[in-house]
Amino acid sequence: MQRFEQYLRDNLPHVESFHPIYEEALGAMLLAGGKRFRPMLLLGIVEVHEPLLYDSALPVALALEMFHTYSLIHDDLPAMDNAPLRRGHATLHTRYDEVTAILAGDALNTDAFYLIAKAPLRADVKVKLIELLSRDGGSRGMVLGQAIDCYFENKPLTLEQIKILHTNKTAKLIAISLQMGAVIVGLEKQAQEALYEFGIELGLLFQIQDDIIDETQSEEEAGKTTGIDGNKNSFVTLLGLEQTLQEADVLAKALQRRFEDFDVKLQTALQPLMQQYLNRHH
Ligand code: IPE
Ligand code: IPE
Ligand code: MG
Ligand code: MG
Ligand code: MG
Repeated sequence: MQRFEQYLRDNLPHVESFHPIYEEALGAMLLAGGKRFRPMLLLGIVEVHEPLLYDSALPVALALEMFHTYSLIHDDLPAMDNAPLRRGHATLHTRYDEVTAILAGDALNTDAFYLIAKAPLRADVKVKLIELLSRDGGSRGMVLGQAIDCYFENKPLTLEQIKILHTNKTAKLIAISLQMGAVIVGLEKQAQEALYEFGIELGLLFQIQDDIIDETQSEEEAGKTTGIDGNKNSFVTLLGLEQTLQEADVLAKALQRRFEDFDVKLQTALQPLMQQYLNRHH
């Protein structure tokens, strides 16, 4: 974690220009923090299987965090969730302006792929990493989820449809974080797919927890604007808090069973990251 934070600080987008705030705006949301969940999933897999590749995997982990941060910057824009607070700081469109926030998001999105392309890894590995991030981060994944999320405000979806929404907007990026780690260390296709499937369930639970946070936490606790999902298709708006907590519990138990099927090495790597998701409801 500390190595990742150091690597991030040392590798913020660096652009010399006469623009007075451009470079600062590109790095601000990355520096603001966050749980770093996606890079930690990727690095956890690498560390346990092929620790010598850890340093070579750092740019890929940072690429994931950049891509995720881009999605948050755009998610907070007035046209989307219109949120003034993120990671304990003013959102970019609040601190600077909308143009700056849109462009910072655009830049982080593209720069993520640049980082992977330049990573000291085999070319075929990098093509696969780029394939996974572009597949699940783009029109078939995160963007689709965000499109559904915004289009269907004030238009209630079914539980099945909300699961599709959450799978796309959140779970796929979490699933590829695990799979990208598996690709870097050269795990076989079957092991990669098992991790991906596990990641989808983990990601769904992650977004349900996020929906619970919106309902139950203050903005000080969450570090972001909360209480704004009222006209959204969240688990809480559809099922209410009690039933959502029960649903999260069922998912956590299913996840725990899948987790126990992994080999001991993998369980050890993922245990600290899973803790809050697997144990919270027991
Ligand atoms: C928030 O993601 C948006 C979702 C996909 C739920 P995180 O909860 O990972 O946000 P940070 O990275 O910790 O700020
Ligand atoms: C956003 O979901 C998921 C993204 C793809 C960014 P939310 O809108 O629920 O995320 P928060 O609650 O603002 O972090
Ligand atoms: Mg949103
Ligand atoms: Mg939001
Ligand atoms: Mg949310």
